[in-house]
Amino acid sequence: MSQDSSLFAGTVALVTGGGSGIGAECSRRFAREGAKVIVADRNLPAAEAVAKDIRAANGSAAAISVEVSDPESVEAMVQFAVKTFGGLDVAVNNAGIGGVAKPVGELPPDEWLKVINVNLNGVFYCMHSEIPAMLARGGGSIINMASVLGSVGFAASSAYVSAKHALLGLTKTAALEYGTKNIRVNAVGPGFIKTPLLDANLDEATMTALAGMHALHRLGRPEEVAALVSFLASGDASFVTGSYHLVDGGYSAQ
Ligand code: NAI
Repeated sequence: MSQDSSLFAGTVALVTGGGSGIGAECSRRFAREGAKVIVADRNLPAAEAVAKDIRAANGSAAAISVEVSDPESVEAMVQFAVKTFGGLDVAVNNAGIGGVAKPVGELPPDEWLKVINVNLNGVFYCMHSEIPAMLARGGGSIINMASVLGSVGFAASSAYVSAKHALLGLTKTAALEYGTKNIRVNAVGPGFIKTPLLDANLDEATMTALAGMHALHRLGRPEEVAALVSFLASGDASFVTGSYHLVDGGYSAQ
């Protein structure tokens, strides 16, 4: 997809988990397309490195440390965006973790909660703080990073799969609540994308097997997710809200 350096001119975009993988690519793409970008991550050095890269390429970016499972930290992140760049127009709620691989009968409840707290509660806290800031601007666009596992199961990943399924309900409900206030809310469902998240959780043999489960017979690239996120955040998607958009290389086609 082509990139237009004025697509997001004058807008402020916030990306959680912006220090790595998909979030880093979304941050870079928004910046190339003219947005002022807040790169938020619990790994502050990683977020700072992405923001520095963006500024080195003549873009506009600032980094902040955030723990998305902590509502106070999330509110401080949104206030930082407002203070630094004057408001908030686009938010990509992307920070997420994998969790330990165990079947339901063996998954320790605290491991279940760890994933739910980041991947589901974290997105709620983000939206809860982002929406008032967007209302103050007269509207905005929110993109919640779900997964293809927001619509199909995956053995030994019950907490992750459950959180991602729940994000679709949260997305649809917020879209209904804020449609007349000019805030669009969508969810994205990537297939398996080659990022540090996959590298940390899967061995090479599993990754090769997973690649073969996509119609395209390969893993996706973070840029391929960022292209869809950019479209959904842009005015080109002005009639798109409350929906779930796959970028899954055909993983769910069978
Ligand atoms: P990644 O591990 O490369 O990056 C995630 C970033 O989020 C890291 O920089 C990490 O520090 C940050 N983060 C994690 N927990 C956080 C927290 N509690 N508060 C603040 N920051 C936190 O992962 P990747 O692959 O880029 O994933 C990004 C999102 O995309 C996640 O929500 C993931 O579930 C989703 N996704 C990833 C897929 C993949 O195959 N890589 C497939 C489908 C969805």
